[in-house]
Formats: sequence, C-alpha cells, structure tokens
Amino acid sequence: MNDNFNLDSSQTTQENNSPTIENYLLEDRVFKPDTSFIHQAIYNSLDIYKDADENTELFWEKEAEKLSWSKKWEKVLEWELPFAKWFVGGELNVSYNCLDRHVENGKGSKVAYFFEGEPGDKRTITYQELLDEVSKFAQVLTDFGVKKGDRVAIYMPMIPELPVSMLACARIGATHSVVFGGFSSEALKDRINDAEAKVLITADGGYRRGSLVPLKQSSDEALSETPSIEHVIVVKRTGQDVNMTPGRDVWYEEVMKSTPGFAAPVPVDSEHLLFLLYTSGTTAKPKGIMHSTGGYLAQVAFTHKAVFDIHEDSDIYWCAADIGWVTGHSYIVYGPLANCVTSVLYEGTPDFPDKDRWWKLIEEYNVTILYTAPTAIRTFMKWGTQYPGSHDLSSLRLLGSVGEPINPEAWMWYRKHIGSDSCPIVDTWWQTETGAIMISPLPGITDLKPGSATFTLPGIHAEVVDDVGNKVERGGGYLTLTQPWPSMLRGIYGDPKRYEETYWSRFKGKYFAGDGAKIDDDGYMWLLGRVDDVMNVSGHRVSTTEVESALVDHPSVAEAAVVGANDATTGQAIMAFVTLKSGEDPSQDKGEELRKHVSTKIGAIARPKTVIFTDDLPKTRSGKIMRRLLRDVAEGRNLGDVTTLADPKVVEEIKNRAQVSPQED
Ligand code: PRX
Repeated sequence: MNDNFNLDSSQTTQENNSPTIENYLLEDRVFKPDTSFIHQAIYNSLDIYKDADENTELFWEKEAEKLSWSKKWEKVLEWELPFAKWFVGGELNVSYNCLDRHVENGKGSKVAYFFEGEPGDKRTITYQELLDEVSKFAQVLTDFGVKKGDRVAIYMPMIPELPVSMLACARIGATHSVVFGGFSSEALKDRINDAEAKVLITADGGYRRGSLVPLKQSSDEALSETPSIEHVIVVKRTGQDVNMTPGRDVWYEEVMKSTPGFAAPVPVDSEHLLFLLYTSGTTAKPKGIMHSTGGYLAQVAFTHKAVFDIHEDSDIYWCAADIGWVTGHSYIVYGPLANCVTSVLYEGTPDFPDKDRWWKLIEEYNVTILYTAPTAIRTFMKWGTQYPGSHDLSSLRLLGSVGEPINPEAWMWYRKHIGSDSCPIVDTWWQTETGAIMISPLPGITDLKPGSATFTLPGIHAEVVDDVGNKVERGGGYLTLTQPWPSMLRGIYGDPKRYEETYWSRFKGKYFAGDGAKIDDDGYMWLLGRVDDVMNVSGHRVSTTEVESALVDHPSVAEAAVVGANDATTGQAIMAFVTLKSGEDPSQDKGEELRKHVSTKIGAIARPKTVIFTDDLPKTRSGKIMRRLLRDVAEGRNLGDVTTLADPKVVEEIKNRAQVSPQED
C-alpha cells in the first residue's frame, strides 16, 4: 500500500515535529488478503478510496441512494462547525428500510435472526415475522400515546423483543434510549430522567450465567423517581414473580394480542433523532449521545457491508456484543437489517453451561462472520484452546474486533485458533459518538498488521496531531477527525455547550476523539487507548497498550493491565496488574521475568516498576478494564463507587494483593 495512504500530505505543518506519544513497540508481521478472498470480496480495488477522496460528499450521496427515501434530499451536507446536517430535506423511515422493503423485494421468508436464549431455547424469526411484530408493537406504542419525537426507554435482556422495540419506535418516529440490562436501577433512573422518557419497555428478567437478572424489580426501584414515565410494558422472559402496578404496567404479550391493526411507517426528516445512547465522560453525569436517521443509516449500512464483506445470500453473521452498547445498535440491529442479512442473536454469557458455548453456536448455525471484543478473545486465550478446538469452526471466513486496542498476540491467537490461520481480521476503531466504524481494514484490499486498525475507511478523514494540533505524519499523537461524517453524533442531549467543549475545543476545527494514536512508517494507524491511559515516565510518554501488549506476549501471561502511578522521582511509575495462565506460578521470579520481558520487547523505559498478580481484572460490564480503579489501587486511594464493575470482589482482592506483595525495585 502507498506510504501516504489516506494521509493528506498537503496539510503537513511540521516536517520534524517530535512525536507526542513515543513509539517503542514495533510489529512487523504483515498478512496479505488471500487471492481467493480477494476474488470473492465485494470491495477489492483501491478505487473506492480514490473515489471517496476525490469527492467525499458524492461518495456518501451514492451510499445514501442505496436506501429507500420517501423524499429526496435537497443538499448532501450542511456544515456549521460543530453541527452537521446530512441529506438535508430528505425523508425516510428506518424501520421501512430494515424490514418492509426487503419483504416487498420477496425476502419475507429469509431469516433475520436465529435467536438462542441462554437456557437453550431457540427462535427463528424471518423478515416477514419481524415486520409483523414490529408493526403490531408500533401500534401498541401509538395506542399508549407515544408520538413522533417522544422518548422511549428500553431496559431489556438480549431477546428478540429488544430489536422489535427499537424498530417499533423508529417506525413511528419515537426516539429510543436503550439502557444496558446490566446497569443498576440508579443508572436507569438517571437516563430516563435526562431523556424525560414517556414509556419504559422492560422484561420480568433475563438469564445470566444460569441465574435470573431482576429487570422488573430494578425498573420498579428506578420508577419511584421517574415522573415522566406514564406506562411500562413488560415482556415475560423468565416467568419470575414481579409486581405489576395497575394503570401503569402491562404485559407485552397481552397488549400485543388485544391490539388490532398494524402501524404504518412514518416518514421522518433525515435529521430526526433516531436514538439516544448514554456513555460516560470525564464527569459523573453520563452524556446522552444523539444520533440521527438518514446519515446514521447510510453510514452504518455501508460500513457493515464493506468492512464485513457481507454477501447477503450466503453469510450468517454474528456480532456477539450486547445491543445495549453502540456496537449492538449499529451492527446487530440497524446495519445487518438494512443489509437484509441473517444474524445470530445470543442472550447469554460465553461460559454457560460451559466455556465452549460460543463455538457450539458457530458450529450449529454455520456462522461465517464473527465480530467480538479483545477482552473476550483474551478470556478465551486464558481458558485454553481445547474449547474452540473441540468444535468445527470451518464455516468462519472473517473475524472482527472492536472496543479497545487488540494486542498483537491476541490478534494472532484469534486468527490461529478461531480463524483456522486464514480468516482476515478486521480491527475496527470507532466510538458511541461516531455511530459507525471509522478506521478499519477492508478485508479484500488491506494488508493486515496484527494490532493495527490500519486506515480510515473511504469517506472518512482523520489526522494524528501533536499537543498544539499540528499534524503528525509519522509517530504518535492524538487522533482527530477533520471532516464531518454522516453517522456523527448530532450533540449531547440537552447540553450543546458540553458537546462543543468535549469534542471540538481541544483542537480548532477538529473533532477530538480522546484517543492516542500513532502512524508507523508504512502509514498504518495504531490506536493507543484513551489519552488518559497514556503514562508519563521520566518525561517520556508511554502507552499503556504497548506495555500491556508486551506483557501479553509473554507465554505465561493471560491478561495484563498497566497504569501509571504517581512517583516522586519519575513523575509516573508503571504498575502492571497481571493474570497468569492457569498452572503458572505467580512468584517473585516470575515478576522479575516479566519486567525483563517488557524491557526486551519495548525498552527499559517501559519496564514496570511493580508487577501485581491477580486472578482477574476489574472490568466494566462492557468488558473494558477499569484503569481508573487500578490507578487508585496503585496510589493507595479510596476506591469510591465500584457499582459498575463486573465483579466488585476483584478490586478488593487486588487491593489486598497491592498491600501485601508489591515487588518494588
Ligand atoms: O478508546 C477507543 C476504544 O473505545 C472507545 C469508544 O468506546 P465506546 O464509545 O464504548 O464504543 C466502543 C465500541 C465502538 C474509543 O474511543 N476503541 C474502540 N474500538 C477500538 C478502540 N481502541 C482501539 N482499537 C479499536 N478497534
């Protein structure tokens, strides 16, 4: 690939600027796409990048034309920094695009979702059945007084009624706000109140690792302080006992039976608010990220098709995220349905009833494309190859990764043990705010390097910049996006000032993603994690990701998290929290061996001062390592609120270890 690929050299402002984040870890393995993959790939020529670079607006216009619009736009883009409008004046309906048009095209009997519940119950749902259920439920919502523009909160397990609820909202122009089913009642309450939602859709409960998650009970706790909610619609999932408040609460199954008629899709403006999705920022108050209709759907549909090389008639696609996160919104619901794909929808955890559940699912449904997160991959590495090894995974032809930087060793493991050493891996960088994938390989075109998200997608413009916003051609810095993109956030709900300050004030005229990134000598992009994950050791900036990758590269290590702890001499000292593979001994000698290993891989500057062994790492429910907590442990601070942790016991354990066994220099 061209050295300057996707980098606009005319905008170079400094020839010899020093890199903002120094780059120590070098990865030189390259995997070219197989000829057989290239031949069958939907996109296999660099022309797509050229076309998009020549005229970005025209490129996106052509993608938008692939959707069905009830009224054509007058203008592709209206850009008044930082506010963008795409396909201005156009009208469409997302539910029509995801369902009706496929049925009208004779695809009604095609399977939309193979659903499997954690207990093993199965449902096959065709596009026709999904359309019927969505139209009926849209009618139910209308009868409950939900109108275009109203907000509807959704707090559900990963069952088909979750996408049904989202699509029913979209059908009548209501804005949905999905709250991840693993969040507490407190989090649900805050999100309902911020959005002033009128209706809550929930379930009696859900299944998680064999036990019942009491969703209705949590909803009831939240609902005592949510004055905007008029009705609660409850899906019966587990059959557990719940309280139903007369006049407010109804059973989904009952209202679906008693409601006559089906709601027709309501055309809405291209800029109409399709959904809110809350994400955490640097302050305690979560941000309600606003996503629109036309631009969002156009980019999500394009990226889904291009990045996953979707062959509508033969692929069985599985995105193993939760719909409660943006990955699920864009790549379980809207992208796959807009592209008329057959997906797998799985409710539960990967280790129930045993650690091979995912591989069983892939074998049973002949999954061809798997999209998951590095944290899951590292967990599978820890469990061992016998679990995937005992299943036939030969149906897989493409693998994806999202959510955090993927360590090269995890990438290699994923390719070898899941992708039979041949599947391309698309490492996709994006955010709740971007709505859709922004940086990723195209699998029929891009030469892959393990751990690199490679290049911006066609139609996307990014720059790595230094502290003062100057473009960095080679080396490290901050990732910015320099032009508006169709699925970009339209703001933070109710707080335009915070929108400007958070994303548009750090670098003039550019969107600041909050991530560190580096560009290597071949022009490849390497995401280095959030900038607050960057450590400063003796005046050198070192990325936590690089040290973690070096640790995970050691054969004894299953998972590692690295933080910078305040240090009187060096500014910050590197603290490594390490989970060893089963059978490995967490001894003093092992700690020394790991420190040396990092030194060899990266350099003495990156050698952890302390290695703390732990059986697990504290993670958010979406699987991100909670480095803030680890930093608190490292610096001996009070731990504060740990309620969003997957397992609060882990922190306690780490704290105890930190007190008893630091291996100081
Ligand atoms: O730090 C980046 C990381 O996840 C952040 C966005 O998180 P969220 O809004 O929860 O969305 C996650 C799913 C899209 C980013 O700012 N991130 C996401 N994907 C990658 C990544 N970091 C490195 N490589 C990725 N592929």
